[in-house]
Amino acid sequence: MSDQSPPAYAGPQRVFSGMQPTNGLHLGNYLGALTKFVALQQRFDDCIYCIVDLHAMTADHDPKTLAERSREVAAAYLAAGVDPKRSIVFVQSAVRAHAELAWIFNCVARMGWLERMTQFKDKAGKHSERMSVGLFDYPVLQAADILAYKATHVPVGEDQKQHLELARDIAQKFNNDFDAPGFFPLPESLIEGPGARIMSLRDGAKKMSKSDPSDMSRINLTDDSDAIMNKIKKATTDPQPLPETKAGLDGRPEVENLVGIYAAVTDKSVEAALQEWGGKGFGAFKPALAEALIAKLSPIAAELRRLLADRAALDAILREGAARADALAEPIMRDVRRIVGFWGA
Ligand code: TYM
Repeated sequence: MSDQSPPAYAGPQRVFSGMQPTNGLHLGNYLGALTKFVALQQRFDDCIYCIVDLHAMTADHDPKTLAERSREVAAAYLAAGVDPKRSIVFVQSAVRAHAELAWIFNCVARMGWLERMTQFKDKAGKHSERMSVGLFDYPVLQAADILAYKATHVPVGEDQKQHLELARDIAQKFNNDFDAPGFFPLPESLIEGPGARIMSLRDGAKKMSKSDPSDMSRINLTDDSDAIMNKIKKATTDPQPLPETKAGLDGRPEVENLVGIYAAVTDKSVEAALQEWGGKGFGAFKPALAEALIAKLSPIAAELRRLLADRAALDAILREGAARADALAEPIMRDVRRIVGFWGA
């Protein structure tokens, strides 16, 4: 190693991720992120899974329902298999470090970096001057979420890739600006597999999203069997049979999406799914896909309802999670305050 290269981060390997408590979760959230949250518990000792209610405030937000929406996301994490004894599950606003570190990072990140963020441009459209400052600043808070715990690995869907790159840039600039080499890790995004980018069931060019006005465009985690079957049967396709190879999916985004969903829920590769279904028609494939989804999602929906019925037990898990998260973040924040030169630090 040359004298010039800064020391690499040498702390523990740690996973952090989060989801916004807005309008319930859908299949994209489940396949893009939640299934990974569950699997990573086997590979990492420290997994921290957050419900990011501060992020949910950046767009329309209803104070009357926010806390209940946060419980719903927490219940979905647990119902999908996040184990609150192993992993930390908590609500962002219950741990002060997130907002404090976001402010410090606001003074590290550059306007130009944020102006390049495509998600802000997509959400704001032509009306950026009417958007909240919070929406613009959203990725800085996301960087603070991750780095308040010095997390090294972040499981997310593909739409979060650019935000993760920004988090790395902020970590690097902080380390450089304050002469604290290796203080923050440069977090790596974990984005892989056929579930990383699930598209709308109606339009293969748009991602599946909570904000799509058409409920037919998405499968919600709480949809019952009839709704799932109906939405899959009505999903946009074309009259050709399924292709036998991946190359045959080119130019057929809706078909690619359905095959990707099938592969993800049946734990197969896309190639294996095409070997099974290549040459067959959608009249046979769609019911099989719907059945596979129902088999996967209905036990989760039932468990989710059970957990939500016992609000006291859920709140106890979230309180304990917040205390554990705070205990990890506070020593890091003490170092940050000292590094940036705050009085009393
Ligand atoms: P959010 O709440 O929009 O989405 C939660 C997770 O679901 C993934 N996702 C998808 N994956 C595949 N296909 C889709 N159609 C799809 N839609 C959503 C997202 O990529 C995400 O992983 N900014 C984040 C929340 C956040 C966060 C963080 C994530 C705040 N702080 C720190 C990681 C680390 C967001 O809006 O996610």
